[in-house]
Order: sequence, then structure tokens, then C-alpha cells
Amino acid sequence: MTQATSTEHHVAEIQRLRRELDAVILAHYYQESAIQDLADHVGDSLFLAQRAAETDAEVIVFCGVHFMAETAKILNPDKLVLLPDLSAGCSLADGCPPDEFAAWRAQYPDHQVVSYINCSAETKAQSDMICTSSNAVKVVESFPADQPLIFAPDRFLGRWVARQTGRDLVLWHGSCEVHEVFSAIRLEQLREQHPEAVVAAHPECPEIILDQADHIGSTSSILAFARQTPARAIIVVTEAGILHQMQKENPEKLLIPAPGADETCNCNLCPYMRKNTLEKLHACMRDREPSLELDPDLAARALVPLERMLALSR
Ligand code: 13P
Ligand code: SF4
Repeated sequence: MTQATSTEHHVAEIQRLRRELDAVILAHYYQESAIQDLADHVGDSLFLAQRAAETDAEVIVFCGVHFMAETAKILNPDKLVLLPDLSAGCSLADGCPPDEFAAWRAQYPDHQVVSYINCSAETKAQSDMICTSSNAVKVVESFPADQPLIFAPDRFLGRWVARQTGRDLVLWHGSCEVHEVFSAIRLEQLREQHPEAVVAAHPECPEIILDQADHIGSTSSILAFARQTPARAIIVVTEAGILHQMQKENPEKLLIPAPGADETCNCNLCPYMRKNTLEKLHACMRDREPSLELDPDLAARALVPLERMLALSR
């Protein structure tokens, strides 16, 4: 089979299996273009969690990383939730082991815990409210001003939220390995080469990057900015998968992916998101595995702070 006919074969089989399984396919903006194009819903973490919460489909196929599919399972404990590659982790979720988090959190008994959705079910279960980068400011502001807060696990997102809200947040030390390696010096050089361009960055980036940005926000907020800005060129400081939707929505604009520190690497591609392929998507629907399995008691505890977030974001 040639590459083209193999792709057509996978796409046709995915379409057939979607009907046969009564499945909904959810895909994050960081997935490869072919997966985004055949998904029922493409979006950011909040949008996808909302779609998972409301779906009537019998099977949820999550094209994203493990914590996203796990979130869908927490919301739908009785449904089959498939992830094309179960090893698609996340440096933020993996960098916050639940036991260490529990021991650290115990030092702040009077604090409430806001956790970024990029964490495990065990960490969610230790949290008072979940947030995504779309609603982190709103979630933090929903607590009384005198309520001390822990924010975990992303220290860069946490610092940005602290600046936006004027709150003094206690931060877990995690980071996204994709967003923390964008080079501030190379971004400066790129801005000099393209003085007409505006800069849009994700709040998972360090301050030294965010200080150069005209717009800071979640993936969906960056896409909205790209549609609305009169600028003809945009330097995009987040995972490069977002360029697919952005170029579709703005065919006339020049989109410039921001460089990582090392010229030789594809640092702006998330290695975990990229573990999912069209072939593995087809295989997981055909085999009905790998699926997310979660202890029902843990799922019930993780659901409480997740539902608080969804209620706040309706
Ligand atoms: P959002 O899509 O919510 O902006 O999150 C980005 C991300 O890194 C997801 O892993
Ligand atoms: Fe995790 Fe960063 Fe990859 Fe998102 S881009 S899944 S935060 S490692």
C-alpha cells in the first residue's frame, strides 16, 4: 500500500468504526492535522472536557494525552474511553507524583488547592477545584480574597495567574517541557526580522517569553486572537499543531512558529501528543483498546473538583 492509500484506508475504517461503535472522536489542537480533520470536536482542554461531559455517544475516543482521556473517564465512569496510545503522558502530570504532592500540601493545612487539569486523577482527588488555562484566572478569583491558595502543578501558569489576579499563590514546581524551552533570545531575533508581526503565547511559557507577547492565553484564546487581530503576521509561541486550525481560519496570514532553544530539534512539538497517529487511532477503535480504567472510588473523588470547574465555566 502506498502512503496515500494507507491513509485513505485508515480514514475510511475510522469513519466506519465511528458509526459501528457509536463513538465520538475528540481531538486537541496539538494532534496531527489528519486526526484534527476527522474528529467530531477539536478544541482546547476545557472545550474537550465539556464535550466529554455532555456526550450521548457510547464510546469516547480521546485523541490527546492521558490526563485528558482520564478526565473523560472521570466524567463518564460507565463508558468505554479509548486513547490511541496509553503512554501519551505529560511532563506536568508526570512531574506531580500524588504521594509527594500530598506530603507537600500537608505543609499548608489552611490552603485550598487549585489544580491545573494537566494532572493525574490522584492529584485531582486532592484538589478543591480544577482549572484549565482558559479559566484559571476565573477559578482563582472564585475563592474569597483572603483564602490562601495552592496552585499546581504548573509554576509558570501559576505565576501568570498570580500576576493577573494579584493573589499570592503557593506554587508546585512543575513545568511543561514544550513551553519551557522556547528561546527568549531567538524570539527577540524573530521579532526583529518581522517587525510587522504580533506575538501570541501560551501561559505555560516562562515570564521571559510572556513579557514579549501581545496576547497570552489558552490554545482557543490564541486562535480567537489570530482571527481578530488586524496584523498580517503572527509569531505563535505554543505547540505547532495549533498552526493547522490557525492557517485554515486565516489563510491570508503569515504564521511563524516560535523557535526552541536548539535549532536542531522539533522542540515545539509535544512528544506525548505526537504518540497518537492515524494508524493507532484506527487500531484502538478496531480493537476497543487501549482503554482508560479507573478505580470507581478515585473517579468519584476526582469528579468533585472537576464538576466545580464545569459549573463555573457554563
Ligand atoms: P489548552 O488547550 O487548554 O490551552 O492546553 C494546552 C496544553 O498544553 C494541553 O496539554
Ligand atoms: Fe503536557 Fe506540555 Fe505536552 Fe501539553 S504540551 S501535553 S502540557 S507536555
